[in-house]
Amino acid sequence: MQHRTLGRTGFSVTDIGCGLWGMSGWSGSDDEASLGALQLAVDLGCNFFDTAWAYGEGKSDGFLGKTLAANPGKRLYSASKIPPKNGRWPALPTYDYNDVFPADHVFAHADRIRHALGVDTIDLLQFHVWDDSWTDRPEFRNAVEKLKHDKIIHAFGLSLNRWQPANGIRAIRTGLIDAVQVIYNVFDQNPEDELFPVCQEHNIGVIARVPLDEGSLGGKMTRDTTFPDGDWRKGYFNPKNLNATLDRVDRLREDLPSGMTLPELAIRFILSNPVVSTIIVGMRKEEHVRGNLALSPAGGLDAGVIQKMRKHRWERSPAPWSD
Ligand SMILES: NC(=O)c1ccc[n+]([C@@H]2O[C@H](COP(=O)([O-])OP(=O)(O)OC[C@H]3O[C@@H](n4cnc5c(N)ncnc54)[C@H](OP(=O)(O)O)[C@@H]3O)[C@@H](O)[C@H]2O)c1
Repeated sequence: MQHRTLGRTGFSVTDIGCGLWGMSGWSGSDDEASLGALQLAVDLGCNFFDTAWAYGEGKSDGFLGKTLAANPGKRLYSASKIPPKNGRWPALPTYDYNDVFPADHVFAHADRIRHALGVDTIDLLQFHVWDDSWTDRPEFRNAVEKLKHDKIIHAFGLSLNRWQPANGIRAIRTGLIDAVQVIYNVFDQNPEDELFPVCQEHNIGVIARVPLDEGSLGGKMTRDTTFPDGDWRKGYFNPKNLNATLDRVDRLREDLPSGMTLPELAIRFILSNPVVSTIIVGMRKEEHVRGNLALSPAGGLDAGVIQKMRKHRWERSPAPWSD
């Protein structure tokens, strides 16, 4: 697999990594199959894994811990996230920083995550939500500096709220941030406008998340697709959004180069952007792991195809069902 540098962390990460949310939070998961998918990813050369305490209250961190323990000779990079104490996604400017990331909450979760991963130092620890109005809070600076000083973490990052890619730029400018995780895919191209130039300027690692638009760009969803109660996708792919999304997927298919599948187009669109350090794809099935990781050597798309992708950009803003 191809490697890229995760910004100023210097980590040499594979350009395609694994996202573990679905393994602990979505219906249709099978723990044994999930662990098998993670091991297959490692065997195929993948070295970057994104998890979060909120994914099953440590379940997903534990899966990654097992995978790290089973592969002691390999340098695998772990990224996890501290959940907001108030349990609210996304962050809003009306929330006080200390209600979301008070120091005791941050350090207690960092310890839980270290324990679940089985590591002394977490490669990349991220806040799971962010609002830039908190940037100048001294508690924020103190927490990040102490996490690093005490070697609890190697690097610190922010997971930016859905469809708010610029809500993190002020924090980047403080010098405290090493990497950001942002939704970037064929539909959601807006991080290119403001966020990516700032990341380039400050040598910030860019983790592209939700590369397949939560599954619609995998090409297998239909207008009859439904999800059970308790599966986050039930709200996200509500009938209105499902139909709007599949209308766009249908239009995208018209621009699919011959011989290329929709997930290949989607993932290689992101690989085309050199600002992106790694793409975290949610993949629980071995078939998906094999297919997606095999795209790494193929790299980006031709300029002509990229040009055609521009018209598929979708401007959207947060809705009550989107987080
Ligand atoms: N707030 C946050 O910080 C946040 C929010 C969302 C996501 N994330 C991170 O980003 C990662 C990726 O996002 P995501 O998992 O939500 O969505 P995603 O990667 O856009 O889509 C995942 C879906 O695509 C399917 N898929 C994968 N490869 C496929 C292929 N080749 N063909 C067809 N379908 C395919 C998966 O199926 P299977 O699972 O059945 O293989 C799964 O249903 C997460 O796992 C998580 O680590 C973070």
